[in-house]
Amino acid sequence: MPYNLPGKRSQEGWEADLKYVVTGRSSVAESVPLVIERGEGVYFWDADGNRYLDFSAGILTASTGHCHPHVIKRLQEQVPLLWHVYAFPTPQRARLCEMLTEHLPPQIDTFCFYTGGSETIEAATRACSSYRKAYLFASMTHGYHGRTLISRSLGPSLLNKVYGPTVNVCHLPYPYCYRCPLKLQYPSCGLACIELADDLLQGSGHEPLAALIFEPIAGAGGVLVPPPGAWQRLVEICRKREMLIIADEVLTGVGRTGKFMAIEHFGVQPDVMTFGKGLGSGFPIMCLAGRRDIISSYPFGEVGEGGASTSYGGNPLGAAAALGTLEAMFAEHMIENAARLGEEIRARLTPWVEKYRVVGDVRGLGLLWGIELVTDKTSKEPYPAWGWEQIYHDCLNNGVRLVPNRICPPLNITSAQLHQGLDVIEATIQALEKKPA
Ligand SMILES: Cc1ncc(COP(=O)(O)O)c(C=O)c1O
Repeated sequence: MPYNLPGKRSQEGWEADLKYVVTGRSSVAESVPLVIERGEGVYFWDADGNRYLDFSAGILTASTGHCHPHVIKRLQEQVPLLWHVYAFPTPQRARLCEMLTEHLPPQIDTFCFYTGGSETIEAATRACSSYRKAYLFASMTHGYHGRTLISRSLGPSLLNKVYGPTVNVCHLPYPYCYRCPLKLQYPSCGLACIELADDLLQGSGHEPLAALIFEPIAGAGGVLVPPPGAWQRLVEICRKREMLIIADEVLTGVGRTGKFMAIEHFGVQPDVMTFGKGLGSGFPIMCLAGRRDIISSYPFGEVGEGGASTSYGGNPLGAAAALGTLEAMFAEHMIENAARLGEEIRARLTPWVEKYRVVGDVRGLGLLWGIELVTDKTSKEPYPAWGWEQIYHDCLNNGVRLVPNRICPPLNITSAQLHQGLDVIEATIQALEKKPA
């Protein structure tokens, strides 16, 4: 039986909360007033006792599921010992760095920790500017890097009229094959959109550029998986200009795509990486990692006003949560699970493009998949926003919680749970097909 949301207790709790808390937090969280009380593994429960399969892992944060027993254990060991004393080394942080170096490319050997993604992106740009003595950046049109001044400038910025001008960034076309910016087809296009980057960088008047920042798979931009060779060629073009390469893996990192870092799928070597949505299983810890010569360059790598420091970065509780997360992830082979289930999703979703009038494209890797809805397969007219709202509501009423257009459950979901969730999504797509767009 569908849940008929919201339940009474959720409704009451929501009204109490709204008196005090800002609206505009999240379109989906606000469209059905739910109060969430507890989570365990791939499920969470609302205040009325309804259970949901979490197909978005928090917001790609609950990588090991909700309240994984080993992460709890690591946090419980730490809670009575020490919560925070600013930047002093702690055994947990040292062990965390050791573990990270075992799994990251060998040149990525120096770390700074933060609590949010935007803050980490800002720090990455400061580190690269320190090294290059240049402050202009290139990024990709469909990237999302956050909401602070530099991070929002790196993405497509829609709110300049309200928030004021962004900083100068050279935006390069994302190799988005389903909607090719040049209306060409891969591979006969010869990666023309990437070749264009050379001219755009040359003509931008931005030189010297400090770095290129890009998401190996654009997440918020619609799960855009680039065609083979695209990142290799782009990196070659940027290296010719001595630009550094920053892989923003805030969303794709820590096992999400079936490799520890998504960049491993694409055969390029970044100088700097940002990651961490899944690093603390929901506990706020993010990481900036990079070549030692970059991260320790003046002023970023030195004590003082321009340094890397922040109040809470790398605090002992965050480090304990991250250590617990990585230990659980490796002990339980969650990254391999993500890779294997990614192929099950591919096999299940690919036929939907033929089968359903409204499904224009499906794409993804590991446990990060996107579904693009259209009103017409030939014109590729995007489906109006209410299409996903409808799917979101129907899924929720049937016990599955989504981020619209994405499938990104915890990395320890089982095949049976995954297919249960996909059954619900498929049924909601079938219901949508029956309505006029
Ligand atoms: C790739 C990427 N970078 C940066 C950010 C910003 O992170 P935060 O929302 O923690 O500031 C996000 C958030 O979704 C992201 O997906």
